[in-house]
Amino acid sequence: MMSDPIEYLMDVWPLSTGTEDHLTSHHLLLRDRVRNEAFQEAIRRVVRPGDLALDVGAGTGILSAFAIQAGAQHVYLVESEDILSCAQEIFKHAGWLDRATFIRGMADRVTFQGGKVDAILIELIGNFGIDENILSVLPTVRNKALKKGGKIVPAGLRLFVVPIMEESLEREFGVYRSVLYGIDFSPLARLADNNIYLLNFRNARRLAEPQLLAEFDFLTCESDTIESRVNFSITEQGRMIGLAGWFEIDLCEGISLSNPPNENRTHWDQIIFPIGEAQAVEKGDRVSFRFRYNTTAGEDQWAWSGVIHTRGGIRRFDFCNADRFLLPKVRTRHTVELKTKN
Ligand SMILES: C[S@@+](CC[C@H](N)C(=O)[O-])C[C@H]1O[C@@H](n2cnc3c(N)ncnc32)[C@H](O)[C@@H]1O
Repeated sequence: MMSDPIEYLMDVWPLSTGTEDHLTSHHLLLRDRVRNEAFQEAIRRVVRPGDLALDVGAGTGILSAFAIQAGAQHVYLVESEDILSCAQEIFKHAGWLDRATFIRGMADRVTFQGGKVDAILIELIGNFGIDENILSVLPTVRNKALKKGGKIVPAGLRLFVVPIMEESLEREFGVYRSVLYGIDFSPLARLADNNIYLLNFRNARRLAEPQLLAEFDFLTCESDTIESRVNFSITEQGRMIGLAGWFEIDLCEGISLSNPPNENRTHWDQIIFPIGEAQAVEKGDRVSFRFRYNTTAGEDQWAWSGVIHTRGGIRRFDFCNADRFLLPKVRTRHTVELKTKN
């Protein structure tokens, strides 16, 4: 038995399409022992023998399987992708098919009728918690299907940010501000800065105390919009390249999961909000950060801006993932008139 699957497994992915393709991302989840053991224990504490449970975004069905292990009478697995057939195979093999209903579709568009469930299990948790649309999917499903006094695993979510220094990332971002091979790539800087990046921080330096950016109680939250401001007092001299962001989820009383920079305990990475060119900061400097998030027509919009107050002056940044100059995808065939050489 391996003690730590994250340490010992190799990165091996199938070169194929279809269900196997989806297995690739679920493979990452299945080998994340920290995540899985925390969910298993939380579900054991929350789901009572005889309960009905609804698994939103069921994937391989692992959370439903934990609910069956905890004594659930019946589980409803809703999943938008064909990974659901893998869940079905696992349940068939375990002899649990008569205790499960498999629904292929978007959970927020399913009509639930008759009774209500005792527990909702949902792991639509992205690297920054909100980036798998949990804020729009969960309230819709909860309001339709969860009985009064019912439980949700996880019960809540918190988001944290901190100004950060990371030398290799500063060099990476530098590509978009450089002249390379005699070509000036700086026209790409704005596009690059209007992105949120995913990184597994190993050697990042926090330049201030982390701040709580937003907090959600999944039993009551209704809005999928975030509008938040936080202030930092710089505690360490360094070169700020942006703000690192991560989440903490409360699976149940006493069990939480988190993915802060440099810890690498789970499969989740951290995100980074760039600020453009790196900024030298010193102890006592101040950074204010504003974050806006909403899902308009199914598209996530992330906007982040701020002001850095240093002894040398004030520096502002203002970015949004919707601010792009990319051409739309075109599928038409083109005819190009070529010149004849003089
Ligand atoms: C992070 S995975 C979690 C899978 C599984 N619950 C687990 O914990 O291993 C999220 C799953 O939710 C599915 N999903 C995302 N949005 C969904 C939606 N609105 N309705 C149903 N399934 C959804 C994805 O296809 C994916 O399989």
